[in-house]
Amino acid sequence: MWRWASCLCLLIVLNAGCQRRDPGTWTLGNEAKKLTPEIQTKVAAVLEERCGTLDAPKMLGDDKFDANKLALGRAVYTKRCVQCHGTNGDGQGPAAATLLPKPRDYRRGVFKFTSTPYGFKPRRDDLVRTARKGIPGTSMPAFNLLPEKELQAAIDWVIALTHRGELELQVVNAAEADDEVDLAAVPETVSDILAGWDRADEASVVAATPQPKFKVDHIIAGKQAFLTRGCVKCHGEDGRGQTPDNLRGDLKDSWGHPTRAADLTSGMLRGGQEPMDVYRRIFAGINGTPMPAFQQALAAEPETIWNLVAYVLHVSSDRRRGKILEAGSIAPFK
Ligand code: HEC
Ligand code: HEC
Repeated sequence: MWRWASCLCLLIVLNAGCQRRDPGTWTLGNEAKKLTPEIQTKVAAVLEERCGTLDAPKMLGDDKFDANKLALGRAVYTKRCVQCHGTNGDGQGPAAATLLPKPRDYRRGVFKFTSTPYGFKPRRDDLVRTARKGIPGTSMPAFNLLPEKELQAAIDWVIALTHRGELELQVVNAAEADDEVDLAAVPETVSDILAGWDRADEASVVAATPQPKFKVDHIIAGKQAFLTRGCVKCHGEDGRGQTPDNLRGDLKDSWGHPTRAADLTSGMLRGGQEPMDVYRRIFAGINGTPMPAFQQALAAEPETIWNLVAYVLHVSSDRRRGKILEAGSIAPFK
C-alpha cells in the first residue's frame, strides 16, 4: 500500500516537473522592469492594441491576416519551439538556460543566417530555410519532417513575435528616455519596423560574379586570400579559430551572449554548406556577431569571395577526408 502511495507521489512530482510553465499570456520582458508600473501598463496597452493578446493575436500592420493560420502557427510553436524560444519569443524558454549558443531572442529583429545584405532583416524564406534545415552544430533542430503548412504557420508566428518584440523594445526604450509613453510616436515606430521587413524582401544578395566550377586552383587562391585578407585574426591560420580572442572566451554577440569565431574545420557550417550559403556569410557578414561583411573590402576583386568559399568548403571537409588535426586549446563553452 505504502509502496503504491509513494509511487503515485513520485509520478505526480515527475509529471509536474515535466509540465512547462506557460504563462498562457504575453508578458513584458525584463527590459520593461526599469519603467514605473504605470508606464509598464501603458506599454502593455500599446502592445495589446497593435498585436492583440496571446489568445487573440493580430499581425502588426496587417488587417487582412489569416487568424486560422496564426492560430495554427501558435499551436505548432507551442509544441515545437517554445521550450527554447519562449512564449514571448525572447529566447528564454525553459531549456535555454543550459544551451549555448542561446536560442534566438526574436524581439531584436536581428537574424544571423539571411540572404540579405549586412544589417538587413531576413526574408521570410530565410526563416523558413532555417526552420527546415536547422542550424548544424547548435541545438536548433531541423524541422524538415513538419508538414509544409505547419512549418509556414510556425514562421508566421515567429514573425508575429518578432514584430511584437521589436515594438515592445522600441516603446520601452523611448519610454525610458521620456519618462512617458509617447502614443503619437507609435504609428511611426510601427511603420519603421514594417519598412525594415519590406526592404529585406527586395534585397537579396546576388553573387557579384558567377560561381566558377571549383578546381584545386580556387582552393589554393582561397587559402592565400584567407591568410592575407584578415580571416586569420579570428579564425586562425588553419581555420579552427584557435586564436587568442577565442581562447579568452570573452567575445560577446549583440544579444550579450558568449560567442567565438567559427571552427571552419568542424564540418558543421551553421549557415549551410551550399557554396552560395558560404558566399553570403563572407559577402554580407553575420548580423549580431563579430563576423564582418567583406563586400566592401573585396569589391575590387569579387572573384576572391568564390576562392574563399572553395577554401572554406575544402577545410570544412578536412576531418571527413581523414586529416587528423592536432588537439587545440579552445575548450567548449562552459
Ligand atoms: C532545442 C532548442 C530549440 C528549439 C526546439 C527550436 N530552436 Fe530555433 N534556435 C535555437 C538556437 C540555439 C538558435 C540559435 C543558433 C545560433 O545562434 O547559431 C535558434 C535560432 C532560430 C532562428 C534564427 C535563425 C537566424 O538566422 O538567426 C529561427 C528563425 C528559429 N530558431 C526558429 C525556430 C522554430 C520555428 C522552431 C520550432 C518549429 C525552433 N526554432 C525550435 C534552438 C531551438
Ligand atoms: C572579427 C572576427 C572575424 C573575422 C575577421 C572573420 N570572421 Fe568569419 N566568423 C567570425 C565569427 C564570430 C563567426 C561565427 C558567427 C556565429 O555563427 O555566431 C564567423 C563565421 C564565419 C563563417 C560561417 C560559418 C558557419 O558556421 O556557417 C564563415 C564561412 C566565415 N566566418 C568565414 C570567414 C572568412 C573567409 C573571413 C575572411 C575573409 C572571416 N570569416 C573573417 C568572426 C570573424
